[in-house]
This record gives sequence, structure tokens and C-alpha cells, in this order.
Amino acid sequence: MIDPIHDEKILILDYGSQYTQLIARRVREVQVYSEIHPHSMSKEAILAFNPKGIILSGGHRSVYDPGAPDLNPAVLALGVPVLGICYGMHLLARHYGGEVKPSQTREYGPATLWPDALYPVPFPNFLKQGHVVGFGARPLPNKVWMSHGDHVTQIPNSFQLFAKSDNGIVAGIVSKDGRMAGVQFHPEVNHTENGEQLIHDFVHGLCGCRGLWTPQGVIEREIAIARQKVGQDHVILGLSGGVDSSVVAALLHRAIGSQLTCIFVDNGLLRLNEGDEVMATFAQHLGVKVVRVGAEERFLSRLRGVTDPEQKRKIIGHTFIEVFEEEAHKIAGVRWLAQGTIYPDVIESAGSKTATATTIKSHHNVGGLPEKMGLALLEPLRELFKDEVRQIGLELGLPPRMIHRHPFPGPGLGVRILGEVRKEFADLLRQADAIYMEELYNSGHYQKTDQAFAVFLPVKSVGVMGDGRSYEYVVALRAIETKDYMTAAYYPMPHELLARIARRIINEVQGINRVTYDITSKPPGTIEWE
Ligand code: XMP
Repeated sequence: MIDPIHDEKILILDYGSQYTQLIARRVREVQVYSEIHPHSMSKEAILAFNPKGIILSGGHRSVYDPGAPDLNPAVLALGVPVLGICYGMHLLARHYGGEVKPSQTREYGPATLWPDALYPVPFPNFLKQGHVVGFGARPLPNKVWMSHGDHVTQIPNSFQLFAKSDNGIVAGIVSKDGRMAGVQFHPEVNHTENGEQLIHDFVHGLCGCRGLWTPQGVIEREIAIARQKVGQDHVILGLSGGVDSSVVAALLHRAIGSQLTCIFVDNGLLRLNEGDEVMATFAQHLGVKVVRVGAEERFLSRLRGVTDPEQKRKIIGHTFIEVFEEEAHKIAGVRWLAQGTIYPDVIESAGSKTATATTIKSHHNVGGLPEKMGLALLEPLRELFKDEVRQIGLELGLPPRMIHRHPFPGPGLGVRILGEVRKEFADLLRQADAIYMEELYNSGHYQKTDQAFAVFLPVKSVGVMGDGRSYEYVVALRAIETKDYMTAAYYPMPHELLARIARRIINEVQGINRVTYDITSKPPGTIEWE
């Protein structure tokens, strides 16, 4: 069987660039598997990885800084094609006897390229009047994204120039044997025009990859692995209705059918009709075995009187584990716990030695359970970026609406009801949130925001309703735009839409008489209110 990971992959050595993850994504977008590893990866590990090509990322250091990371010698020993980006290019240039110097002015942001020469080698841009010769005539990226302090001032003898930026800086070099190239700009960044084409040319043209990394290829691979690992055993999965666990459920269902049991815990802090929708999609539509556990009373009774957000999170997390464990024990022959860990969680946990994303994620799901219950872990999405998870989900037949859902925190409405959580508050919030989401969907704004939700404020304010005065609760609406959820801007929602949502919530939800819109960015605010 063709294995889209084993059979062809690109190694990305990380020299500290903020864009390293983007490089990995761009390579995968041209359908070749890529992995990010530290620049100090050992020779044995690089040999064992067996890449078709290596990309050296940029980095924020200067190659002359004391202690700045050097070119990993194993990179050259392997004899596979190498592409150096920014700092990676400086390393190549210096190693082969060229010169790198600090620029007079640091260059950040857009720049324009000028093609320089024609070279009869197969990569990357064998230019004839600005066109690539060899892979069909392609214009060199014209507008590119620069972010550097140093630049190459003398090209090594074994290299040749193929592009300059309009202020005369060496922007692209290629070795005379055509095996190595370096670019000063960042082809992985969207602002670089046709940057993906350059990545494509490197990966397919120079490294000779065929493009095995397709959603179908990935699904087949993960199905084969899951079947082989699991054998006749049973697997349990905490299904939340979020994208990752949903895709794991659909994938494993296809792989092992009735050997998979999903446990869906209704903690009383879900959105309106959420439990029914999850059951309709998985149990009725896909035929997945799902145990729905109604545990609202247990969660809400433990939360009674608790106002501290972290305390609330802990109670919800612990209670979840308890309920999940009870249910898991009822299922005979369970040996595996499946989880929706994805590649960014893995990268982050490798990068930070303290609070890792994986432990955070497992905390919100079923942290500590695998060891406690003697279960082995099955993580079929461990190699995938979020957009790849989505593609696979669609390919597996999950509804687009589920696949494009905004993130929903593990503690659910528990952190969107400020202070004490009460059923009465959760019911009001569910209704208001459902109206908000419906209006966002129908107006096409849901798809334009990255996360949107309503928050319940347990304070009462005065209003006029008909002839009388009302004294009721407040709901705040939040909608944000973000790339990574680390920083976020508030979404500039049209005023007419806001007015319609507010009107509907106040008219239709008895108990709410005031609606506000949150215009705080992150930082200083957070996305959630608790
Ligand atoms: P903040 O509020 O920290 O949120 O700006 C960043 C992202 O993380 C989500 N979030 C959580 N997710 N458990 C989760 O599973 C939590 O306790 C939690 N708190 C915040 C939040 O919804 C946003 O997407």
C-alpha cells in the first residue's frame, strides 16, 4: 500500500521563525507530508526520517550572533535537495564560502523582486526575462514578503544569483548543480505572490515528490493503522460535537465500525439542541455507536455557589472524567482511548516543557484517564493541521456546518455565565445564543468570524417593556477575528444586524432586557469572559 507519510516527506528544520508552521502547511497544501523538527535534530534522526528534501526555516537571529544556531551538517550529508529561507539561506551562503552582512536598513514587509539571470538547472526559477524555464514559463513572485536584518553580500562560488529585490539585495540563489536554493523572502507567507508555486517547484520539481498527501490518502492510511493497532479490541472516544472529536469518530467508525463506542456527556452546559444534533449526525445518520449520558444535575449541583472561574473549570473537568470513567467501565473489552490531538498540539508540546497544549487538551477531555484505566491512546489526527482535519471530515461525509464550527470551550457555557452557574441562567443564555447564531448564519457573518457567542451577565438593569418597567438580565455578544486565538480583534459587525439580533433577543427571551456588543481586542481582553 502507498503510505503518504512513509513514502515521501519533507523535513523542515526550525531555526526559530514565526512562520515555520506556515512552511509545513504550504508543503502539505501541495500534497506532500511535512514535519517540523528542531534545527539541532540528530544525524541519526534525520537519516531515519528519510526526507525527500529539507527546508531550513528563517529565524530571528543573525548568523554572526554568538551562540546562533549553525547549519546542521547532517543536512548536507544526506544529499537531498535543500531550500534555505532567509536565515536558512544565510546558513547555506556562509557554509559555502559566501558572505552575509547586516543590512543598513532592516527590511520588514513587502518588497519587489527583479529577476536576474538564466540558469539551465531544474530549480527554482531559471529565468528568461522574468519567466521560469523548465516547469513551464512562470513569472517569478513579484511582490514578496521580507523580514530580515542580514542579507547575502557575496554569493558563494558554487552558487548563482537568480533574483534581486528592487533595492539591490540578493533575493534568490541556486547552487550550480541545482540541488540547493536559498531565498531571502518568505514564500510561505500569503503576502508573497505565487509563493506556493515556488514551494511546489521545490517539492515536486526538485525533490521529485508525487503528491501522495491527499485527504483520501490520509484516510486510507489512518484506517489501515487503526485496524492494525486495534485488532479485535474495543475503543472509546469522548465525543464533544467539536470538529476534532467528530472527525475522529467518523474516521474510526469507518475503520472499526462497532468496535468504537463514543461517549457524549451532556453536562447541562451545552448550546441549544446540541445533544440532539450530535445524536442525529452520529447515531442516526452515520450509524456510530454513541452513548448519551445526561449528567446535567450532577454538574450543576457541584457548581452551585461556585463563582471563581478556575474553580468552575476544575469542577467541570473532574466531573467529566468521573462520568466518562463510569460509562467506560460499563463497556466490555475496552483497551483503547481515542483522542482528537492534532499536529499543532504536538508541536506546541514539544516546544514547551511546562504546560503543554496536549496536557491542556487532555485535561479538557479525559486527562489522566488512559494511565488510570490502563488504556492505550489512539490519536489518528496527530499528524494533521486543523484545515486538514476539516478536509478529512468533509471527505468522510460530516456535515459542512459541523466541520466549520467555531471552537467551543470544554467547560462550555460554564465560562460564559459569569459567576455562579444556574440552570435558569443557562436556559436564558442558550436561547439568546441560538438567536445570535441563527442571525449570523443567515446573514453570512458566521463564516466571516472566527468565534462568536453570547455571554450571560448576572446583573439586572431597568428597561421599559410596553407600558411597564422591567428589571432583567443582560446578555453581551462577542465576535472576533483571529488567526491563532492568541491575539484577536473584535469583529466589525454591521449595526443593522446588531440591532436586529438585540431586538430579537429582547423580544423572544423572557428574562433578558438588554444586549451589549463587546468591542475589546485580545490583548488586553481574552476571548472568553472568564
Ligand atoms: P481566551 O479566552 O483564553 O480563549 O482568549 C482562547 C481560546 O481558547 C478557548 N478557551 C478554552 N477552551 N477550555 C477550552 O477547551 C477552556 O477552559 C477554555 N478557555 C478558553 C476560547 O473559547 C478561545 O477559542
